[in-house]
Amino acid sequence: MKKWYAVIGDPISQSMSPSMHDEWFENNELQATYIPVHVKEENLEDAVLSLKTLGCSGWNVTVPHKSSIIQYLDEIDSFAQQMNAVNTVEVLPNGLLRGSNTDGPGFVRSLEELYEVRCKESKVLIIGAGGAARGIGYALHKAGYGPITFTNRTLDKARQLCTEIPEAKALTIAEAEQSLSTYRLIIQTTSVGMNFAQKGMPLNPENIADGTVVADIIYNPLKTEFLIEAEKRGAFILNGTGMFVHQGALAFEKWTGIRPNTEEMNEKITDTLGGTYVNR
Ligand code: ATR
Repeated sequence: MKKWYAVIGDPISQSMSPSMHDEWFENNELQATYIPVHVKEENLEDAVLSLKTLGCSGWNVTVPHKSSIIQYLDEIDSFAQQMNAVNTVEVLPNGLLRGSNTDGPGFVRSLEELYEVRCKESKVLIIGAGGAARGIGYALHKAGYGPITFTNRTLDKARQLCTEIPEAKALTIAEAEQSLSTYRLIIQTTSVGMNFAQKGMPLNPENIADGTVVADIIYNPLKTEFLIEAEKRGAFILNGTGMFVHQGALAFEKWTGIRPNTEEMNEKITDTLGGTYVNR
């Protein structure tokens, strides 16, 4: 029988996950499909029960349900527990629901696809202190990167993250701007620079040093103002398409045991988003 998978969230119509997973199912000759399901906050419990009853084999979870879904799952892996956020649910053969989080590990894989050698064992700066910063910071720490410094408009939130990640430090935006040239890896995780949301940059990029790897988790636009400015200063850049593709690939692997083709998918998503985008 054909299996089916889903992504639940509110809003959900913009999600690129269905076309990505459907293509991977087809390329790997799997009899399966993946659909977007619009679930409002107040309907989450009913939705989880329904997905289970209707035989869904696994699903992704996006805003605003990543934390609230935890109470309806049977098992949570340790990374998702630490994040207090789940983006992938597997329905186990015995019917139990297991939650995990592939967002931070997805970022690390997208980084390593291009720049692993350049970034290991060097100072890392993460701009932002929300859920994305936390997942990426923790995944980088677990993968042996660091030491990690967080800088954020609201310094207290950066300080809070430092209590969760060993040896992490917090800086004000002004302090980070001054010391930018000392980091070999800089990751922008705020919404600043996103199309239609907030134009601009989260901090002044003037002191970015030549040869630094600068990542932005935004993929629309494909190249944020921050990445453009970093590139002008000789940085190696990385946008958010890779993180998106790899978080999906890690979920796909959990469901099917197959590692899908991420490079082709990255190119395809870049085309869909209207552009050529070149890392150097
Ligand atoms: P996500 O899950 O995507 O990380 P989040 O948890 O809401 O989203 O976190 C948003 C991050 O973007 C925070 O670091 C936030 O800074 P504050 O903690 O000071 O709110 C940052 N952010 C959002 N808008 C910003 C802006 N206009 N300038 C600077 N930082 C901004």
